[in-house]
Amino acid sequence: MLRSTCLLLAATCVMADVYLHVPRGSNNRLNENSANRQNANRLFDSQNNNRGGYNVGDQGQNAQAGNGEENQYRMTYFQSAKAYKTLTDDAGKSFLTFEWTNQHGCGGNEDTDPHKQNCNIVFQYMCMPEINSATGAQGAGQIRNGETTATQNYQQTNNQNENQNAATNRRNNNVNVNRGLQEPWEWYDKCNSRERNAGLFTADQKLKANNGRGISAAIYTRQNPNGNRRGYECPEERDYYPYWHPTVWRDIAVLSENASQCAYYTNNSFNTRPYGECIETYGNGQAKHWSQYNNPADCADNGGEWTEFSSYLDKAPEFTTQAACEAAGTKDGHQLIWAIPYDRPLIGSISTDEACLVAMDPPECKEAPWSRSNHLGNGRDGVANNYTWTIPQFTSTDTQRCAMRIRYNISTDDYDPFNTDSTQNKNIAQGIVSPVQQNPIVEVGASSPLRLAINTAQFGRVFQDRSHAFLLAPRPAGVGDEKLYNLNVRGKRGNIVQTFPAVEYDFAPNDLNITDADLVHIQWTGSNSHNNGNPGGDGQTGDAGEGTGGTDRSNIVEILDRNDNFPIPFENTNMWTGAEIKWVPNAGKTVTAEDLAVNMASSGYYQCMNAATCQGESVQNKAQLNNLLNNAPASYEGAVVKFKEGLHQYMSTRNNNFSNRSQKGGINVNKK
Ligand SMILES: *[C@@H]1O[C@H](CO)[C@@H](O)[C@H](O)[C@H]1NC(C)=O
Ligand SMILES: *[C@@H]1O[C@H](CO)[C@@H](O)[C@H](O)[C@H]1NC(C)=O
Ligand SMILES: *[C@@H]1O[C@H](CO)[C@@H](O)[C@H](O)[C@H]1NC(C)=O
Ligand SMILES: *[C@@H]1O[C@H](CO)[C@@H](O)[C@H](O)[C@H]1NC(C)=O
Ligand SMILES: *[C@@H]1O[C@H](CO)[C@@H](O)[C@H](O)[C@H]1NC(C)=O
Ligand SMILES: *[C@@H]1O[C@H](CO)[C@@H](O)[C@H](O)[C@H]1NC(C)=O
Ligand SMILES: *[C@@H]1O[C@H](CO)[C@@H](O)[C@H](O)[C@H]1NC(C)=O
Repeated sequence: MLRSTCLLLAATCVMADVYLHVPRGSNNRLNENSANRQNANRLFDSQNNNRGGYNVGDQGQNAQAGNGEENQYRMTYFQSAKAYKTLTDDAGKSFLTFEWTNQHGCGGNEDTDPHKQNCNIVFQYMCMPEINSATGAQGAGQIRNGETTATQNYQQTNNQNENQNAATNRRNNNVNVNRGLQEPWEWYDKCNSRERNAGLFTADQKLKANNGRGISAAIYTRQNPNGNRRGYECPEERDYYPYWHPTVWRDIAVLSENASQCAYYTNNSFNTRPYGECIETYGNGQAKHWSQYNNPADCADNGGEWTEFSSYLDKAPEFTTQAACEAAGTKDGHQLIWAIPYDRPLIGSISTDEACLVAMDPPECKEAPWSRSNHLGNGRDGVANNYTWTIPQFTSTDTQRCAMRIRYNISTDDYDPFNTDSTQNKNIAQGIVSPVQQNPIVEVGASSPLRLAINTAQFGRVFQDRSHAFLLAPRPAGVGDEKLYNLNVRGKRGNIVQTFPAVEYDFAPNDLNITDADLVHIQWTGSNSHNNGNPGGDGQTGDAGEGTGGTDRSNIVEILDRNDNFPIPFENTNMWTGAEIKWVPNAGKTVTAEDLAVNMASSGYYQCMNAATCQGESVQNKAQLNNLLNNAPASYEGAVVKFKEGLHQYMSTRNNNFSNRSQKGGINVNKK
């Protein structure tokens, strides 16, 4: 029924929706060389067009992402400085500016530039301490991209009394180390086992029930009435925010259509308040990761214990008692709380003991930036829709492996989204008509009735995109309490129609306006299989661009003026002269301004000019760089640099192609 509606009204169903460009959103892609993603159910439910998204980065010059996770490149962002919470004027903060496009518009003023719908945008992330960054060795619960585009397996149990060994076996049989994983298996198992929130408005959708389980679980929602599974995402949690149970996601920011809703969001974010879950135990006394009961009364009636868990940034194990935790009050400027931590759930290790936790900050909440309806484009003044995240500092100083997500939620004024609940769900026996109905026929006074294109599963709809796995590493030696700005490359290979709804190459942020006391972390990642070939879905295929087909490459060379398309020779460099190198991955190899210039120009292929400094990786000794960067790596770990005062402009020699593509940027450095 729904499907045929989409075919008849293709224009309303085939829509492009929310795409994350910085960091690169996967839209469920991994490394496919087709314009379409292969598996829309790989990790999460995007509700997006199949063409969107970026491949995971390759480390080297060949397409190896499918031959082992260790060949993939993980963007590594440095955390804020240890003292950042206690410093003033943003000192010590690390900034990462997200960029995205959303199709249906958002933001702006109801009166002066009204939109066709209401909206909100939620940014979240989840992390686990990195287990072994060198080998990529992972436990079954580790966040990863995987090597194939297949979805993880899942088998539910119909045995209410399943014991711990059986549950562990089920998990181990389901979870495949070669497949992508973001939410842990237990998260989905929990969701599939817990009764759905029956108080939600489901319009006239018929939500199913679990086969053989005797319940209709939280995998069934108005937007997902058939209970389809994507990765280990929980559909009820996906569709609603703030969620009313604990979640593995941490909030970064809420961009609301109206800032008057911000108190509600910050008060109810899991960052700032605990949420409950029913904890039952196995026969051996260990806590189970799932329960059927979704409220305190049912939980207690059935022998469970309703337990309130708290989100946290990190633990402070040095404070072992409530008194010690409360006496300390803060750690590195973060608030400490004595509460039950919501750990990434793993069978057998769920603890309901209180501990001293480093609290999350409330999410930042503000008005969404304005964007135009039916237009996957920039915001006001031609500036990309953006949000700048202050990356926290993890007090444990562990490197974290993380993923982030953007959810873009649109609803209509045809029913009050915040005050419509299950009492208005269609119920013929009780004579209740849903305020919105599937493709209703309406009388508008014309000679014959008209049909509206309304799919009640999508009337009020959440779109999503997510990053690939990335790392948040502690600041390296050499980087102190400066402000640190991330400078990356967005886009993928191809021309404007071949890449759509992803975008062509550009530097991001395109313009930085900083001081000569600030630092810039330059880094990028690319794929060697961005061929955008068949199948191409409802768009053009192809990979127009320079160099080996399907490969992304970037580099940075200085130009005098943004209108120029010819670089300045190294000898005349102004951007790099006087620039201080604060960190490079190969300490001692890239030393002088000229070294840095060739390192940036060659995408890290050369470390230095002269063999005296870096032997085989020097311009003098290493085999010549292909002039289209074909033999350079697709990803570049980069450098952290402090620039001298002035306006520094730069471009990519490979991708910039006047009249076809511009990849240029500028850094305006003011005297502090
Ligand atoms: C936000 O909501 C308030 C209260 O409903 C309203 O007065 C205000 O105009 C709204 N602001 C915008 C920008 O629409
Ligand atoms: C989307 O908006 C609806 C209100 O229309 C709200 O109930 C729901 O929680 C929101 N979901 C997300 C993910 O923001
Ligand atoms: C948010 O919390 C504050 C402080 O507890 C309270 O005064 C306010 O009424 C709350 N607002 C909403 C919308 O929940
Ligand atoms: C982000 O968008 C705002 C407008 O909402 C703009 O003023 C700002 O320059 C943008 N920032 C970046 C880094 O692009
Ligand atoms: C750049 O920063 C300087 C100093 O903070 C400020 O005066 C100037 O207006 C900014 N320029 C832009 C384009 O934002
Ligand atoms: C510039 O781009 C156009 C269109 O993609 C392409 O045909 C042309 O070959 C490119 N120029 C160079 C020098 O490669
Ligand atoms: C840009 O592309 C057009 C065709 O799309 C081509 O005619 C033109 O020569 C290209 N420009 C360059 C500099 O290659």
